[in-house]
Amino acid sequence: MCGIVGYIGQRDSVPIILDALARLEYRGYDSSGVAVIDADGELLGSKAEGKLANLTARLRDGQHISGKIGVGHTRWATHGRPSDANAHPHMDCSRRMAVVHNGIIENYAVLRDRLLEQGHTFASETDSEVIAHLLESHFAGSTAGTITERIEAALRATLRELVGAYALGVICADDSEHLFFARNGASPLVAGHENGEVFVASDTPAILQYTRKQLIVHEGEMLVVSANGWKLTDYDGNPVHRQATTISWDPGSAEKGGFKHFMLKEIFEQPTVINETLAGRIDELGDVRLEQELDSISEDLLRSISKISITGCGTAFNAGMVGMYLLRSLVHVPVEMELASEFRYGDPVIDHGALTIAMSQSGETADTIEAVRIAKGAGATVLGICNRLGSHLTRVADATLFTRGGPEIGVAATKTYVSQVTAMILFSLYLARLRGTAPLERLREIAKNTALLPAAIDVLLNESESIRAVAKSMRKAHSVLFMGRYVNVPTALEGALKLKEISYIHAEGYPAGEMKHGPIALLDSSVPVVGIATDGRVREKIISNLMECKAREAPIIVVANYGDTEVASFADHIFWVPKVDEMLSPILNIIPLQLLAYHIADLEGKDVDQPRNLAKTVTVE
Ligand code: AGP
Repeated sequence: MCGIVGYIGQRDSVPIILDALARLEYRGYDSSGVAVIDADGELLGSKAEGKLANLTARLRDGQHISGKIGVGHTRWATHGRPSDANAHPHMDCSRRMAVVHNGIIENYAVLRDRLLEQGHTFASETDSEVIAHLLESHFAGSTAGTITERIEAALRATLRELVGAYALGVICADDSEHLFFARNGASPLVAGHENGEVFVASDTPAILQYTRKQLIVHEGEMLVVSANGWKLTDYDGNPVHRQATTISWDPGSAEKGGFKHFMLKEIFEQPTVINETLAGRIDELGDVRLEQELDSISEDLLRSISKISITGCGTAFNAGMVGMYLLRSLVHVPVEMELASEFRYGDPVIDHGALTIAMSQSGETADTIEAVRIAKGAGATVLGICNRLGSHLTRVADATLFTRGGPEIGVAATKTYVSQVTAMILFSLYLARLRGTAPLERLREIAKNTALLPAAIDVLLNESESIRAVAKSMRKAHSVLFMGRYVNVPTALEGALKLKEISYIHAEGYPAGEMKHGPIALLDSSVPVVGIATDGRVREKIISNLMECKAREAPIIVVANYGDTEVASFADHIFWVPKVDEMLSPILNIIPLQLLAYHIADLEGKDVDQPRNLAKTVTVE
């Protein structure tokens, strides 16, 4: 989704804005732009369709601009195709206001018609441009106070007219001392102040190299920024007092660190990430201790939960599905899954005794936030499983279990998936102990074995090159099927999601028992089948399913435990993994599938970290 950057200080804002925009590239975009107020008080801008390199080239070759105050933007097209004209910043008719916007203005058509009638002229097809013209008309009508107060008043009047979820930033040629920002809904905005400079961005990693102390702007808030700091208010102008949070992430964690792609680096970070997720949460006896972190959901309430509903989108949903099996097995409580994108339309039946678990790496996914709103409105208690401190989800959930995955820059979720599954293991063990639904020894054994997973993943990562060799044999496939059963159904779904999103090869994840009910019709010698056949209650079943695929001449690739001679007798390729408790196997089994997807995409020369059409955080419905 779109990215916003703002800067004010003593340096030229343009290189800083471009650097921060580059760090937001992972969010997904198709054009970019920058606007500054120069030393003569002129508002100057430059925009370019395509990658940031196009904008950089344009600024270098003839459109050089500079100024100590500026805003920048990466656009992910919603209203109007990707083009120079539709790129942000958008300006008003007098070219005194420049606006960058992330989100959707739902009532833009009505506003645009009115503004057109009033004589405004539009230069783009976007919903965002109405903001610049609304500001212009309200600014013309506000005459009381200083210039800064007049712009603030015009922005407040504009915000009152906008319907939708957005974050926006404004600079005005009449005031080279201030930038203006506002946020409404699931469009993150953070600001950091360091030595007479202020940096504003849509996401923490964009400005992490400049400051680790960051203020999180909440919904319904306006931020007026000067080089000396900021003023935070609600939309009515009432002051909001909130301290900046110190971000513990190492700025280096948002760098590639010698890896060819962020995705590969993040795959290799998974052992560390699991250790982080577990740190301090299992005591010396092997019992999971979450009572302090989850203290806003009382133990009595957790004991009395009658039903659990898990929601999320994409990878987060798949991780939640592993959690469903864990909770059913260890807590014996009814658990249902609902895609957050379907939640609001599915007439969900939610009662007061229910717990909704909302899974989201970013904590900003619009559908997930809406599902939480609905669940809470119906009286459910909400537990967020989230990676981002201060994100929307953490503020609307009753309690949050942080996954501690660190910044994930690759659009394809990898380390955050294993951290979400690990968090689900922890929560299931905690709830089972609290409710006494499984023998303590069994729970402690699972906890102990979970702590051994990082070492096992280290071994699997050493197989990266041999997986690349398999990738070479599959890179020209037009379709790949992934099959799993029981707790590895989500592994199949996630393996397929990884492959399709970064290689653009059609891939489907399927519960293997369903193959005969339709998908088997797709098979022939050109459609590889990847099956997960590690030890457990469904191993024999899935081997039978794979034999059925083999009989249709499909190339067979199997994730199996070391030494499985039966699988070795029929598989074309095997990704060996160590034998672990079946409940923990999804964490190991996904590793070769992540690497497979990565290597196929890389061999095919795809843009691994920023796949086409995708955004890291989906802040619109
Ligand atoms: C998967 O690789 C994607 N990045 C996507 O499916 C993602 O998991 C989904 O959009 C949910 O994001 P969230 O965890 O930030 O809510």
